[in-house]
Amino acid sequence: MTGFPDGFAHHPLYFMPAEQAALIDAVVEGLRAAPLYQPTMPRTGAPLSVLMSNFGPLGWVTDREGGYRYQPDHPVTGAPWPALPDALRALWHDVTDWPEPPEACLINWYREGSKMGAHVDRDEFDLRAPVVSVSLGDDAMFRMGSRARGGPTAGLRLHSGDVVVMAGEARQCHHSVPRIYAGTSALLPESAFPGGGRVNLTMRVVGAPR
Ligand code: SIN
Ligand code: FE2
Repeated sequence: MTGFPDGFAHHPLYFMPAEQAALIDAVVEGLRAAPLYQPTMPRTGAPLSVLMSNFGPLGWVTDREGGYRYQPDHPVTGAPWPALPDALRALWHDVTDWPEPPEACLINWYREGSKMGAHVDRDEFDLRAPVVSVSLGDDAMFRMGSRARGGPTAGLRLHSGDVVVMAGEARQCHHSVPRIYAGTSALLPESAFPGGGRVNLTMRVVGAPR
């Protein structure tokens, strides 16, 4: 895609509406075992504007005391994360060549006004493994830059059911979600996501320390 680094791929409407509904059902079921919690920034303890949970053997978490890390259990309940839904494992193997399944699937719930600042996913040991992410619910602006902080970015409006892959060069590039278009989707059930919003599912391989 022009303006985007090599290794970036966008699969618009990879999941049809009925499949999106089934995926959200699986997310809601997972959240019964591993409720959304309020992540906070390392050192400052400032709350992130998204709430988080995870699927899979490992989950990405952050809090003031422990900072950014992966761990096998929920930081509040201490319970293991629920298993990755089959549809997400199948997606991973469909859109990547990576032989192993993802170890972690981060669940981010964006409400109106939630954002994700520019960052590189770099808490994993093996940065050759791709990152695959799924958008569900409200539209979002996704921006992608380069390895260096700052500088020009390319933007893309993500819709419910879209899939993004960051592999190769794109895997090491800055990206952000500066804006959610509140009320553009009615996919998220009010009972689990009061006020609606957007759920992003991000699958990653963590790998072993070298
Ligand atoms: C992230 O990169 O942390 C989230 C991406 C997204 O919400 O689309
Ligand atoms: Fe990211």
